[in-house]
Amino acid sequence: TTHKVGYFVGSLSQDSINRTLSKALVRLAPSHMEMTELPIGDLPLYNRDLDGSYPAAAQALKDAIAAVDGVLFVTPEYNRSIPGALKNAIDWASRPWGQNSFARKPSATIGASPGAIGTAVGQQHLKSILSFCNSPQMNAIEAYIQFKPGVFGDDGSVSDEGTEDFLRTYMHEFNEFIARVLQVLPPDED
Ligand code: FNR
Repeated sequence: TTHKVGYFVGSLSQDSINRTLSKALVRLAPSHMEMTELPIGDLPLYNRDLDGSYPAAAQALKDAIAAVDGVLFVTPEYNRSIPGALKNAIDWASRPWGQNSFARKPSATIGASPGAIGTAVGQQHLKSILSFCNSPQMNAIEAYIQFKPGVFGDDGSVSDEGTEDFLRTYMHEFNEFIARVLQVLPPDED
């Protein structure tokens, strides 16, 4: 079966290494996986006063999440947590109360940093947020990517075979995880 996956890139930077990583993941995803970006750059700051009249960009985000089978977070670590822009997007999508877009939506997290910790601490924060948002999360395999110049091309090509194999396996595992979650939590059971 074809699974649709929406992916968040947690960085707004033009030359984001996490955006480059996302391109590699799109390339290495199983051929029957449809990958669409869930853009976060045009969202205003979340304000619950707007819960009754969602801004267009925020409603579009909720609609886009509803249309996919799973969500993938490709994010940097900022100050040992997640970037504010990503948290803002999660806050929008988790509301209005009772219409949390992440409920029962399978998710996986991955991220790249220049340092050896490879976003591990930031991802722990993200996993905690997603737990509260009731998203079934792929616990294994974990993916903490140390971004080494020369390994990733701007087009998402990966020159190191071990890294490429790992990322391909990661996407394969996420595809299997989504299939398992959909079996026990069919989307229309609410
Ligand atoms: C960082 N960086 C960083 N790196 C890290 O490994 N742990 C951290 O806690 C932080 N904190 C942090 C805060 C802020 C505000 C910035 C701008 C940067 C460095 C970060 O990993 C590096 O800039 C990456 O290139 C960011 O990812 P993108 O934007 O290139 O995808």
